[in-house]
Amino acid sequence: MSRTVYVNGDYLPEEEAKVSIFDRAFLMADGVYEVTSVLGGKLIDFDGHLKRLQRSLDELEIRNPLTQDEWLAIHRTLVAENGITDGLVYLQVTRGAPGDRDFAFPPADLPPTVVLFTQNKPGLAASPQAKVGIKVISIDDIRWGRRDIKTVQLLYPSMGKMMAKKAGCDDAWLVEDGAVTEGTSNNAYIVKGNKIITRQLSNDILHGITRAAVLRFAREAQMEVEERPFTIAEAQEADEAFVTSASTFVMPVVEIDGVKLGGGVPGKIAPRLREIYLDEMMKAAI
Ligand code: PDD
Repeated sequence: MSRTVYVNGDYLPEEEAKVSIFDRAFLMADGVYEVTSVLGGKLIDFDGHLKRLQRSLDELEIRNPLTQDEWLAIHRTLVAENGITDGLVYLQVTRGAPGDRDFAFPPADLPPTVVLFTQNKPGLAASPQAKVGIKVISIDDIRWGRRDIKTVQLLYPSMGKMMAKKAGCDDAWLVEDGAVTEGTSNNAYIVKGNKIITRQLSNDILHGITRAAVLRFAREAQMEVEERPFTIAEAQEADEAFVTSASTFVMPVVEIDGVKLGGGVPGKIAPRLREIYLDEMMKAAI
């Protein structure tokens, strides 16, 4: 069945939705995006995602063409129109379509392109993978230096996922100057005893919306949080590891570069954090 999607003010069947070949995101990856999960028909951490969207747009000097209320109304309309109980809403804002190719930014009054669509994922929170955990490989982090901006430049993360797949694994952790930055599409953590270690915020990583919530809940649950870089060797000796993102929540990591953690099964902390995160976020969902 065809989805209803949103393009520049219109709700359309997906087959009829069109964007110009001159769109800056198509030609230059000049656009930003957000992914918000839907559980029980409600949006998880919508405000967090909208705040980060504003920050990404500000950093690239792209105008935010919609108000907070308009963004919310579009999200809710798409969730309702497409009958999404569990799934995702993807949104993308680009610098627009100037009608030609030019490296220079187009005039600031060019309307940005806005696209939103849903992805249906029944049982998203009850993912069987969360019970067994994922296996990761490490690869060099050769991305650009502004990973704090959520741009649609996702070629290297896609290549990283393919390298992991070829190695019989689920994902890749990115390593720069000997330390893990983050996963291809998630933030990375290790656990030692009662302590959770994850890289500190900077331009080197995306400031995960799930990360912020999970660290808050961890501190509230009297777990210790240390924000600093860690190496693959340190991760391989950790008690547990996990990743967080809007689409996977808290996902245990049970193997890193062929070395099993905790006997190759999820430990206690990551599943506990997943449970707290899902409980609390579903209570606050809108
Ligand atoms: N990815 N780091 C990177 C590089 C990411 O692409 C993502 C999210 C995260 C986690 O951020 P958050 O908790 O706000 O989802 C960290 C999304 C889910 C994606 O590209 O599909």
